Amino acid sequence: MEPEKRFFFPRWFNLLLPALGVVLVGGPLYLIVVVWLGFSPMAVSVGYAPEQPVPYSHALHAGELGIDCLYCHNTVEESGRAAIPPSATCMNCHERIKAKSEALAPIRESMETGEPVKWVRVHDLPDFVYFNHSAHVSRGVGCVECHGRVDRMEVVTQVKPLSMGWCLACHRDPDARLRPLDRITDLGWEPDGDRLEIGRKVREENNIQPSTDCSTCHR
Ligand code: HEC
Ligand code: HEC
Ligand code: HEC
Ligand code: HEC
Ligand code: HEC
Repeated sequence: MEPEKRFFFPRWFNLLLPALGVVLVGGPLYLIVVVWLGFSPMAVSVGYAPEQPVPYSHALHAGELGIDCLYCHNTVEESGRAAIPPSATCMNCHERIKAKSEALAPIRESMETGEPVKWVRVHDLPDFVYFNHSAHVSRGVGCVECHGRVDRMEVVTQVKPLSMGWCLACHRDPDARLRPLDRITDLGWEPDGDRLEIGRKVREENNIQPSTDCSTCHR
């Protein structure tokens, strides 16, 4: 009698099995990661730092020279948007300082033509999200909570995810991230005392109650 004939898988099949495993386990895992990222506070766009038409440095102007954020972004306190300054604001100084600088040519050209400089947006929420600067900066939320140490940036970089989970985390529990109203543009502010305690006081004194209703941010 012939020895029992068994079916043998070809040798390469041994390699296929682990691969199959990766697909079976990896597929759902991939889905979980994608869904989790969507709801987590660490999604997309962090690190986005487009090149700008003029090599304007916040590290130099806001950091070293100590120019206040509001000198240029002078609408944040009253309006939803934080205006990017017109070229005339730059010319307040650059008519005299570095008046011939090649780097500043687009600013001088913009003054001549009246066409604004085409700064590239760094932070940009989807259109279906409603955001408002004054609602935050007049209620104890400093620039640094959402933009990081801009005063140390040569090129502005997005450092926070600006995802829904990230917005909601603070709306649910803002105390640790509130500061006195006169410290909003002081990025390096250090609390003298317990931060949580100071934040709670700011919240209570100003009756701050961030809403988590969908219609607050989707209207
Ligand atoms: C001398 C004027 C000036 C001052 C002072 C200044 N900025 Fe700006 N800021 C600009 C200009 C011009 C741009 C657009 C170019 C760029 O993104 O670098 C800008 C861009 C930004 C952006 C990115 C906007 C976007 O497109 O998303 C943020 C955030 C910002 N500034 C925050 C600050 C903060 C915080 C301070 C104070 C620490 C500050 N700025 C001080 C001129 C200024
Ligand atoms: C309050 C005064 C002031 C304002 C307003 C100001 N700057 Fe400046 N800027 C300076 C000073 C001071 C320097 C450093 C000059 C030096 O290195 O000698 C400088 C340097 C620069 C340089 C480097 C130039 C080079 O050739 O090295 C650029 C680019 C520049 N600024 C862009 C801007 C832009 C764009 C704005 C408007 C959004 C602006 N600045 C507004 C004071 C100002
Ligand atoms: C609670 C978070 C938060 C705080 C606090 C905050 N920002 Fe913003 N900022 C944002 C978001 C989100 C955007 C993008 C808005 C959009 O896409 O509609 C933005 C955009 C900007 C822009 C681009 C122009 C615009 O309005 O879209 C500038 C300039 C800016 N911020 C400067 C500032 C300065 C200066 C301060 C402090 C005085 C500040 N921001 C405080 C979250 C914040
Ligand atoms: C670091 C804390 C913090 C972060 C981050 C934050 N918020 Fe807020 N938000 C607040 C506080 C505090 C208020 C003021 C609540 C009050 O006035 O009682 C507020 C108010 C608002 C309001 C005004 C509500 C009204 O009734 O007018 C809107 C809209 C809003 N936030 C949207 C957002 C969005 C969208 C994001 C994310 C891109 C965001 N916030 C991120 C703390 C935060
Ligand atoms: C504090 C502000 C805030 C509140 C409150 C809020 N959202 Fe959002 N939501 C956002 C932001 C910001 C985004 C954009 C996130 C992004 O671009 O990654 C978003 C995105 C979404 C999206 C699109 C998701 C996606 O992956 O593109 C849906 C759906 C949504 N929100 C539903 C809701 C519902 C339902 C509620 C109420 C339970 C709610 N939101 C409350 C800020 C908010």
